[in-house]
Amino acid sequence: MNKTVALAAAKGGVGKTTSSMYLAAAAVRKDPEARVRVLAADPQSCAARWALEAQESGDTLPFLVQDAKLLDVERLDRDGFEGLTIIDTPPAGAIAVAAVEAADFVVVPSTDTELDLQQAWSTLNGIRNRVPAAVLLCRTEPRTRLYRAVTEALSAQHTPRFDAVIRKRQAIKACMGMAPGKLYEYAQAYGELETMMKEMPA
Ligand SMILES: Nc1ncnc2c1ncn2[C@@H]1O[C@H](COP(=O)(O)OP(=O)(O)O)[C@@H](O)[C@H]1O
Ligand SMILES: [Mg+2]
Repeated sequence: MNKTVALAAAKGGVGKTTSSMYLAAAAVRKDPEARVRVLAADPQSCAARWALEAQESGDTLPFLVQDAKLLDVERLDRDGFEGLTIIDTPPAGAIAVAAVEAADFVVVPSTDTELDLQQAWSTLNGIRNRVPAAVLLCRTEPRTRLYRAVTEALSAQHTPRFDAVIRKRQAIKACMGMAPGKLYEYAQAYGELETMMKEMPA
């Protein structure tokens, strides 16, 4: 699958980096032959740091992680990589814009708070007509009133979203700097992503 997926959200701390790494892991888990890379396109190189820490502790990530600058993202279609590219982006700026431009699909992570949801909507409004996109709820606490309010608001607005909802889990938080083991709800999320991308016009 020669596709590019951008993780984009106008807010920090919503799960862009975590979701980039877990979705990449899920892609390889589903098809061990697949060529998959994560581009660390945020200035903090969070994904690259994650990969480096994994390497230092003797853990091998089953996918590539590459640092990427603005020009790399802008020229993605010319770099010759065949496979699935997942771009971890900064919350705003030229790189975030270029990543959305380069993407076949945009995943917009949000937590189950009203404030993050507002930011997810503004991200979606900025991209919706150019690239297919959907909200992925991350770090959620499904039995709370807040969670219900946020999911109801998403439905009321007919916001495209993943059915998979990533729960708040200590194991996911602690996975930073390691190869994802158990994929939790990210396995379903990746399955949905694949389906949505297959349904897109070529
Ligand atoms: N499902 C989850 N459960 C618990 N903690 C999470 C989960 N997803 C992300 N986190 C934690 O939340 C923080 C922000 O996530 P991160 O992926 O770095 O967000 P972003 O890249 O959008 O800034 C990190 O400390 C991360 O470990
Ligand atoms: Mg990040």
